[in-house]
Amino acid sequence: MHALDDHFHHAQVIINDRLLDIPKSATLAINEKSRRLQREGKTVFRLGLGQSPFPVPELMVSRLQAYARAKDYMAVQGYLPLREAIAGFLKRSEGLDRSAADIIIGPGTKELLFGLQMALDCELVLPAPSWVSYAPQAALLGKIVHWIPTRPNRGWKLTAEDLDAHCRRRAGGRCQLLILNSPNNPSGACYDALELEQLAAVARRHAVIILSDEIYSELHYRGDHRSIARYCPERTVISNGISKWAGAGGWRLGFFAFPPELRHLLRAMTVIASETFTSVSAPIQMASICAFEDSPALIGYIHACRHIMRGIGIDFSQRLRAAGVDVVTPGGGFYCLADFASQTEALRQRGIANAPQLAAALLEETGVATLPGEDFGLPDRLALRLALVDFDGEGLLQQVLDEPDLQVDLDRPELATLAQACDRITNWLPTA
Ligand SMILES: Cc1ncc(COP(=O)(O)O)c(C=O)c1O
Repeated sequence: MHALDDHFHHAQVIINDRLLDIPKSATLAINEKSRRLQREGKTVFRLGLGQSPFPVPELMVSRLQAYARAKDYMAVQGYLPLREAIAGFLKRSEGLDRSAADIIIGPGTKELLFGLQMALDCELVLPAPSWVSYAPQAALLGKIVHWIPTRPNRGWKLTAEDLDAHCRRRAGGRCQLLILNSPNNPSGACYDALELEQLAAVARRHAVIILSDEIYSELHYRGDHRSIARYCPERTVISNGISKWAGAGGWRLGFFAFPPELRHLLRAMTVIASETFTSVSAPIQMASICAFEDSPALIGYIHACRHIMRGIGIDFSQRLRAAGVDVVTPGGGFYCLADFASQTEALRQRGIANAPQLAAALLEETGVATLPGEDFGLPDRLALRLALVDFDGEGLLQQVLDEPDLQVDLDRPELATLAQACDRITNWLPTA
């Protein structure tokens, strides 16, 4: 580098300190290693990336084609017919009375979540484990994050007692924003009615604001997803979108639904939206309306995806347990969380002392890519998140659409890659 360039780079181009504080995610290291192994001609089992294996429903695709010429900017809060369709979806699925005026559309819920954290003077409360991006967003905004541990024998779920104890410690301080995610990434945990009711009572008692991340709602294996908004509507913001259960992560569309009591917060977020992303792409908003309507085609698609993920989640976790790995059977979504604590000593003898080392060794020696629990707020556990999505979703979806009761387990030829990945993990284990 030229001396002048060097001076320019170091003296003037200074990166915001907050960015420097965010550690490089172990996910990136795993991705780089996966690519190297693939270049070397090795088979890599892609249990790292959490992306839907299913195609976008045909109905949405044909609408998108039809609306390709829509070119105008849309209202900042979102296209009104889309917001009306979402209000209808919330009424049908949760019995909630939220109107189009209570909803904002964003380019993915991730962007909306950043806006919410920016708008609210708060501290962030996260059950450990939680999804990878919540805490780094808080760090970018200079916010304090409180992690509340959960236990595998409680299904990795936050308990009302633990939330209450946390809130008592913070009494009199800043507003606490709790993010509750069910069905959960990374654990697959789903909260039931009683658990939600108890958490809602604590939230109400301590004036906690809840962001209910329901991005996997329609992938609840039994179709029994419940929002905590049923029990605590006045302080719950619902977050959902088309990225997971409609297979359209790359379309970038999500929504937040606010109660009337939090309308000032919605207004603040609308200001942020108007000064940042303006509005979500017009054709994408128009084509997404049908994802929230009650059509037989969409219901058939969702039931089929659910049926497939249920068969996979139950069989995969059972096979791991049979090999001595602790896994809570997931209740929905794409993932399970495998805990290798019982193998701690044997793994240590192989030079593996933490989850990033475990993920790296597993990938190097078996070709199975996973993510370390550390990325999800579990730094002290030998836990890995497994995304059970390395299969031909389009082919299997069609089969289940043709035959809704099709038996789905890892013995199916379409799921041979997942079965093999599972075998490689269990054969690699010290105790196997
Ligand atoms: C739990 C959870 N929440 C939110 C998101 C973000 O989804 P999007 O920004 O596509 O709406 C994801 C995506 O991986 C997720 O797993």
